[in-house]
Amino acid sequence: MAARKQARKGTVLTRADILAAVGRSVSRADSLPVLRADRARLRADFDALAAIGSQPSGGLMREAYSPAFLEARAFVRRRLDRAGLIARVDAVGNLFGRTSAPDGAVVLTGSHLDAVPNGGKFDGAAGVIAGLEALRTIVEAGVPLGKPLEVVGFVEEEGRFSGLLGSAVMTGRTAIDGLAGLRDQDGVSFAEALAGAGLDVSRIEDAVRGAGEIAAFVELHVEQGAVLEQAGIPIGVVTAIAGTHRLAVEIVGRADHAGATPMEARKDALLAAAEVVLAARKIAVESARPTARATVGQLFVEPNVTSAVAERVRFVVDVRDVDAAERARIAERVEQAIAVACQRERLSYRIANPMSATPGHTDPAVRAAIEEACRVIGVPFMRLMSGASHDAQNLAQVVPTGMIFVPSRDGRSHSPAEFTSLDQLALGTDVLIATLLQLGAAAR
Ligand code: GLV
Ligand code: MN
Ligand code: MN
Repeated sequence: MAARKQARKGTVLTRADILAAVGRSVSRADSLPVLRADRARLRADFDALAAIGSQPSGGLMREAYSPAFLEARAFVRRRLDRAGLIARVDAVGNLFGRTSAPDGAVVLTGSHLDAVPNGGKFDGAAGVIAGLEALRTIVEAGVPLGKPLEVVGFVEEEGRFSGLLGSAVMTGRTAIDGLAGLRDQDGVSFAEALAGAGLDVSRIEDAVRGAGEIAAFVELHVEQGAVLEQAGIPIGVVTAIAGTHRLAVEIVGRADHAGATPMEARKDALLAAAEVVLAARKIAVESARPTARATVGQLFVEPNVTSAVAERVRFVVDVRDVDAAERARIAERVEQAIAVACQRERLSYRIANPMSATPGHTDPAVRAAIEEACRVIGVPFMRLMSGASHDAQNLAQVVPTGMIFVPSRDGRSHSPAEFTSLDQLALGTDVLIATLLQLGAAAR
């Protein structure tokens, strides 16, 4: 091991050495070593993590706090230990691994370890494994650090209870009081899920970190759209992240016989819900902003019987845009559409708001570091925005934050069809390493 470490150290040539030799000017990034991710190790760890929660159908089931989630987290923790990083799990279930020195505010990287039901292997996991590989590559190369580096595997990014929850608690961006009573679709409370994972909901405030504890955050993530692929560009530098606002709707009518009840006598909750689904799409399409989105991806119908009028329908309208005012306007118009449909059909309804994540804007200095990293490595990049939500948008409210995107095949995500090649992920990891070095290496 020592010999291998020495050999790696011995072969590190910086661009500054070469540029200086030919009389060219030298930037901070040039004076740092150019390190590459270990492809075989990255692949092995990515595949091992991807297998945890993998279904015969190809989809991934790794909901926050589930046994598969805990197994995935334990796997990554073992890798952190093996890399000599100081590992810990916080009071809400986030996993961290940091370099043992120096002291001070950390440069944080990573992403989330949970997955959307029947999701893909790359969403979240790509950024956690890239972060792990980046830190161990830097540690093995023996680069002197001016700031400690830390990798995180966040919990509950995908919305089992509300979404972006691990990062929201860590950054103090959520009211802790209301969390215990949140319930998932099966009626399990947040407090129960935490207890099942060996955590105590009354202690979750311990997970809050002051802004002074984190110097910067960089998240690598798969794009989940097709912009990079269509442009033939391997790296995206994220400028802004759309905010998500969710309306949890319950419409209540009356269950009646499908044959015996005249059409005009019905109180059909599904009829109003169907109208809202169509209205949401129309409202988003009519928005002047091409980045506006409104989606209903799931309906819970009761009694859910072919021969009965629907008594109760529950669903969530997921509204997004990078422009907070437009997102609020769309949500308001959706609420009006719900009111109109329910009034006409003589139905009652309730609307709750389990999630409202502010749009995130990345930090110019972190973006510049990512772009400089691309130049040093010699890889083309483009700037783009993220339509998907990310933990980075919570971090962006409190510390300088950046995001690196790698391409998604056909733009597919939240589906077993999600795919990014290991070469693409490794190149993104190289960029992440060079970015972390600029943000965290000691000045020479
Ligand atoms: C998270 O993946 C989201 O954008 O919903
Ligand atoms: Mn994600
Ligand atoms: Mn996701």
